[in-house]
Amino acid sequence: MSGRPVKREDFIPDEVWVTGDDGFFLVPLRRTEDPLRWLEVCRSDQAVTIQVDDGSDRFDGKGIVPTSSCSAPWVVDRMLDLLDVGPGMSVLEIGTGTGYNAALLAARAHAGAVTSVEVDPVIAERARSALARAGHAVTVITGDGTEGWVERAPYDRLIATASVSVVPHAWVEQTRARGRIVLPFAGIFDGALAVLQVESDGTAWGRFYDTAGFMRLRNQRPDPHLWWIGEDDANVRTSGRYLDAPFRDSTAGFVVGLWLPGCTTGKIEEGGPAKTLLLSHTPSQSWASLTAGTGNHEVTQYGPRHLWDELEAAYDWWMATGQPTRERFGLTVARSGQAFWLDTPEQTLTCS
Ligand SMILES: C[S@@+](CC[C@H](N)C(=O)[O-])C[C@H]1O[C@@H](n2cnc3c(N)ncnc32)[C@H](O)[C@@H]1O
Repeated sequence: MSGRPVKREDFIPDEVWVTGDDGFFLVPLRRTEDPLRWLEVCRSDQAVTIQVDDGSDRFDGKGIVPTSSCSAPWVVDRMLDLLDVGPGMSVLEIGTGTGYNAALLAARAHAGAVTSVEVDPVIAERARSALARAGHAVTVITGDGTEGWVERAPYDRLIATASVSVVPHAWVEQTRARGRIVLPFAGIFDGALAVLQVESDGTAWGRFYDTAGFMRLRNQRPDPHLWWIGEDDANVRTSGRYLDAPFRDSTAGFVVGLWLPGCTTGKIEEGGPAKTLLLSHTPSQSWASLTAGTGNHEVTQYGPRHLWDELEAAYDWWMATGQPTRERFGLTVARSGQAFWLDTPEQTLTCS
């Protein structure tokens, strides 16, 4: 790495968000009010939230959903290692946030060109100023990163720092052949990092690594759930099986999620172990639930897809295949869409 040293606190704004005393709402922590705690947060190995609820202030000075953050340093390092940026490279980052990762990219791509796209104009402007103040040559674009940034394509490397469940083909089109894309893939239960190599035929393929829990790209947030609609017309059966492994086991959840793309999950815990597990799929207007009983449990399924049966089939396939770990799975992205596979791109999982 060459160029200027990159200090995280040079990029983190004076107001960040931390969990409040009630353990539920996020509340502001201001550098002016508590400079020591602010610095401690900046220097921690955790993600630091810099915006909540898309900056809307809908909860009167408090927040619920983090919508921009400076990612945890250990995951930033891991993604940069996977990306393998060298001097002189041209790099596109999706999700500028604070600008910290963009500065690290600029240091690695010394004498190359780093472009970063941020959807939120306030966040983009703040990052632009921080990068200029710290002396890092990064072009920050305010826009929708789903479209990439064709003006400076092709790129040698593309990194997304917000997660996706569908990889935009524009990212493949704008990365040169033999170039690399690193992104956090958002599964329905659990996520992973994906490292893709771009081919000259306009496809990209590669494997999953680690677990990765990133906030989603704004335009790929999960569909709203549809639990309980049409409940009177739902199909109900009893089952001796309480299949909660995908909800509590990270590998099982990741793999089963590959078979159920586009679904949303949930659970009702009522203070103890999960009592009701939920799945829904908005495009097909289908949902399913499993409610724990004593001895037998109740499976309820509504809509054209029988989501609980699909979940059981995916889990049974994973068990019968010897519980392969996430590193044995991969992803191919083509203009026609994306496909998941086990071991080699030829062994495609056939999802609904
Ligand atoms: C985890 S933060 C990025 C962290 C950042 N790389 C850093 O070093 O601070 C994710 C960012 O992605 C941005 N984002 C969400 N959807 C986006 C989109 N469609 N296009 C571009 N940026 C987006 C969010 O506003 C947020 O700032």
